[in-house]
This record gives sequence, structure tokens and C-alpha cells, in this order.
Amino acid sequence: MNQNPMRDIICSLPDQIVDTIDLFKKVNINHASKRIAACHWEQVLICGMGGSGVSGDITAVLYPDIRIIVNKDYQIPPYVVKKSLVILVSYSGNTEETLNNYNIFKKLHVPIVAISSNGELLKKDLLLKIQIPGGLPPRGALGYLFTPIPLLLYRVGLLKKNPEFLLVRLASFLKRSARQVETYSQAMVKIVADKLPLIYANSQAFGVVAKRWQCQLNENAKILCHTNIVPEMNHNEIVGLGMPEKINKHMAVLFLNDPGAFPRNKRRVEIVKEIIKRDIAGLKMVDINPAGKSSFEHLFWTIMLGDFLSYHLAIKAGIDPMPVKRIDYLKNRLIESR
Ligand code: F6R
Repeated sequence: MNQNPMRDIICSLPDQIVDTIDLFKKVNINHASKRIAACHWEQVLICGMGGSGVSGDITAVLYPDIRIIVNKDYQIPPYVVKKSLVILVSYSGNTEETLNNYNIFKKLHVPIVAISSNGELLKKDLLLKIQIPGGLPPRGALGYLFTPIPLLLYRVGLLKKNPEFLLVRLASFLKRSARQVETYSQAMVKIVADKLPLIYANSQAFGVVAKRWQCQLNENAKILCHTNIVPEMNHNEIVGLGMPEKINKHMAVLFLNDPGAFPRNKRRVEIVKEIIKRDIAGLKMVDINPAGKSSFEHLFWTIMLGDFLSYHLAIKAGIDPMPVKRIDYLKNRLIESR
């Protein structure tokens, strides 16, 4: 079980980032970038589901100066249809919701960029295809799925600074950190095993990280997981926390602490901890404070920790992190009923 391929897949994140920088240089982008740069975009619309869609969420929080909207459904809100630079992201290229998004934009003659490894999407009429290496579970291809987006935004003039240097530095930071991050995750397994994780993020950016943790814990460790964000959870969830009392010993609270969070939100987390200590016996708490020097490094360091945690929880429970049988079943049942 220790030889499970998911571990190598998680460790490959930094190499995926570096490989994609090279791959992007080979994409014939001149024609598309001129057409894209000539338009007056009001926003970037990134469409994708699950392990693909998270690349859009990450881009949106890392580049708050650009209006980036992430769409995760069959339909597109009418207010974003016009004047959007449309990027469809689907690792398999066969995701029904994303293909439906394609059909909507095609009918409206909106130029479309696609990031995919294979499938129906790459056979479509696209302004630009960015074909990434295949053969991985989509959630294990985050480096391939995310890296082309900032590179593209720079090429079309939406980003002022070339992100390449930042991405190379990020990859080498993750490579250097991987062993220590994995050891940390193994220590966390002792606290989180057999428990329902409640993950609280102290910023919107780390809310995206919390969501990624949830998806990895769902898909790799095959457990349920709950997430929320401070300050919003201070206005509702804090009241219900700890009830019903019987289940507290079966839960663990994980605080994902973004070093760049707004100071009042950091203070709020401290008060939440006070309340838990005062009112809720038996509820375990863990603070996660990322290493790194930039928001990119903080975010991906914490993502890597969650990936490793989901992997080691699976291995400890004797579960294979690779298959996601219910997702496959659901997709096949939908195909049957087309
Ligand atoms: C599976 C996974 C899923 C998929 C999702 C969309 O590893 O992570 O969340 O990402 O079902 O499929 P793709 O990414 O192929 O568009």
C-alpha cells in the first residue's frame, strides 16, 4: 500500500509547474494572444469542475486585481456572458458541465480558450488549445491545470508582471519543503484519524485552500469534511459549534491560518479558540501556520499539506486513495441517460 501512486502524484506538483512553463512556451499562441489582447475584456471567466475548477479559484484569489469569475455549473450567469475572456478547464476534456459551457459560448460566437489533456473539449472549435499531459487523476494534476492560467493572462496583457519567475521560485520552494510537509502531515494523521475534520480558514484566499482540503479528504481519504471561513462563521456557525455534544469527540477543528489575513480576522480566530476551550470539552484543535515568503508559497504549501494528509489518512485506514468510484458511477449513469 505504501507504493500507492498517489504519493508520487502529490510529490510531482513542483515538477508539473516547471514542465508547464516549458510546455506553454511551445504553444502557438501568437494569433490567439493578438485577438485576445485586442478585445476590451471586463472580466475573465474560468469554467471547470472539481479538481479542474479549483485552478480557477486559486487564480482568482492570487490575482485580486483582476476580476476573475469562476463558474461551476452547466449554465452561465447572463451578466458574465458578454465581454468575458472565457477559459474552460477540464482535465479529462469530457466533463458534461464544461462541455455545456462550451456550447453556450459557441452559439454566442465568443472565442474560447481550453486547458485539457484530452477528450471532447480538445476536438472543439477553440481560439486556443493548451494541451497538458494526461494519465493522472484530475485532482493530482493541479500544477498542469493552474500554471497555464497566469502565463496566459500575462501573454494577453491582463497581468502586468510576467509570473514565470514567481512560478519557478514557487516550484523550487515546494520541492525543498515536500519532505518536511509530508512529515508534518503524518503527525497530523494521529490527531485527525477517525474524526470528522472541521476546517476553518481566516481569509477568503485560504477559504479556497480549505475547499481543496475538503475535496482531497473526500476523494483520497474517502471521508466527509466540513469547511467555513472567518469572519462569516462568527455570525452563525459559532453558535452551533459543539452541539450535539455527543459528536465532539469524533471531530477535530483545523485552523488554516493565512499569514496575509486581515488582522481583525486573525483576532477573531483567537476568540473562537477561547470559546471552544471554554465551552466545548473534547473538541481537538490544530493550528496550521504555513511556511513561505509570498502568498503563492503560503497557499501552495498549505495545499500540499492537505494533499499529503488526505493520502496518509487513506493509507492508515487501508483505503486506496486513487479510485473515486462514486464519481465514475455518477458520470456513467449520466451518459446512459443522455
Ligand atoms: C477526480 C477529480 C474530480 C474531477 C471532476 C471534473 O480526480 O478530482 O473532481 O476533477 O469530476 O472532471 P475533469 O477535471 O476531468 O473536468
